[in-house]
Amino acid sequence: MSKQKTAAIILAAGLGTRMKSTQSKVMHPLGGRPMINHLLATLGKMEIDKTVVVVGPDMADLEAAVAPHKTAVQHERLGTGDALKTGMAALESCDGDILVLYGDTPLLSQQTLNAMLEARRTGKGPLCPSVVVLGFAPQDPGTYGRLVMDEDDGELMAIIEAADASQEELANELCNSGVMCFDGALLPQFLPRLKNDNAKEEYYLTDCVALAREDGFGCTVVFGEEEELIGVNSRSDLAQVETLFQDACRDRAMKGGATLLDPSTVYFSFDTKIGRDVVIEPNVHFGPGVNIADNVTIKSFCHIEGASIATGATVGPFARLRPGTRLAEDTKVGNFVEIKNTDIKAGAKISHLSYVGDAKVGQGANIGAGTITCNYDGFAKHKTDIGAGAFIGSNTALVAPLSIGEGAIIGAGSTVTRDVAQDAIVTARGEQKALENAAPRYRAKKDIAKQ
Ligand code: UD1
Ligand code: CA
Repeated sequence: MSKQKTAAIILAAGLGTRMKSTQSKVMHPLGGRPMINHLLATLGKMEIDKTVVVVGPDMADLEAAVAPHKTAVQHERLGTGDALKTGMAALESCDGDILVLYGDTPLLSQQTLNAMLEARRTGKGPLCPSVVVLGFAPQDPGTYGRLVMDEDDGELMAIIEAADASQEELANELCNSGVMCFDGALLPQFLPRLKNDNAKEEYYLTDCVALAREDGFGCTVVFGEEEELIGVNSRSDLAQVETLFQDACRDRAMKGGATLLDPSTVYFSFDTKIGRDVVIEPNVHFGPGVNIADNVTIKSFCHIEGASIATGATVGPFARLRPGTRLAEDTKVGNFVEIKNTDIKAGAKISHLSYVGDAKVGQGANIGAGTITCNYDGFAKHKTDIGAGAFIGSNTALVAPLSIGEGAIIGAGSTVTRDVAQDAIVTARGEQKALENAAPRYRAKKDIAKQ
């Protein structure tokens, strides 16, 4: 059996009934990715030898989201103690430290987890704690488990679940955040002894503390901040956690040299990258995969995802950049422009009311108002290649597959279906017909008085 230094087990088999959702609770997104992936990313920055996620039956989406980490299926939700047993079976062996986390506590930081590992490893003498619990004193202790401390030595004696606590015990404001660190060599001694003779008729993981004390082992508490320990049980908890997450992102962007005119109206994803001297006006939403270089301006009401924006570009107001958009230096994307899967080369401009998808727009090209790349023929997507310096007149339909040569000029209102050569001038629209002095005759016929 291989010796593992540190393992992590994340419990995520719960139904999350209070979310009133068909999706498993930990799959609900926070900052653009599932809650569970925030925890896994935090663990990913630490030296964890193996991570197991305990899932419920029929949670294929969750298993896919946590891959390549191992999952273990808890077939019946018999409580957190039972879930940990399931996780331990999948771990096979670990006589180092075992961190136990709940999948619904996504803001937990690496520093806090390291403090717990530190406390486990550096405890005093024979009382080197077999269990370290992450405690906190929330504003509203509500249904959190309560930490019972020894008044003399400050050691943790037991955890009492709110459902089983007396009024007096509920008055105790020290709560269990749910995160625990166990001595992996001892945990297998505690788990088989958990009982479900309690208010919820569940096997409580938290009873391991009293069992460890019974065996004469030390148990201790590391305290953390409520802001990173909020457990998400309902949609309003999720909204609260999202706000905390967004505030942290806004702060980071500003510390990095970006100006946010009204920070509380800008929404980031977990991976948004923003350079220096970037100005972001109010009401902008960043989906996942956005990378913004220095000196970029994003005007109000833009929705941007999966896009990279190079130095000097201006976007918006009211622009939508969808995945695969790449804006090169000094490009301009104006109002009511939608771009998808398109390379816009340096200095090119799409200033108003356009859809550009599956395309390449060459350096310095100018795309007039109302230009549409007709990229879909009802069956498949096709590409449009617009050469450097080309000028596309307003209200042009570019029917893909299509290539417009460098420096070509397309007359306004054209529907272009065939490739255009370099430097050609093309108009593809109905001829203008004029009937001189025909208007009076027309009005008379229609019996319309001359105005
Ligand atoms: C738990 C703790 C409580 C602590 C609180 C912190 C227990 C008994 N209680 O209560 O002391 O204050 O978290 O947020 O542990 N899960 C499973 N299988 C199950 C049951 C739960 O995997 O059979 C998972 C859930 O998906 C969830 C986590 O365990 O991620 C916690 O379960 P939950 O029911 O939310 O526990 P709480 O009542 O919040
Ligand atoms: Ca919970």
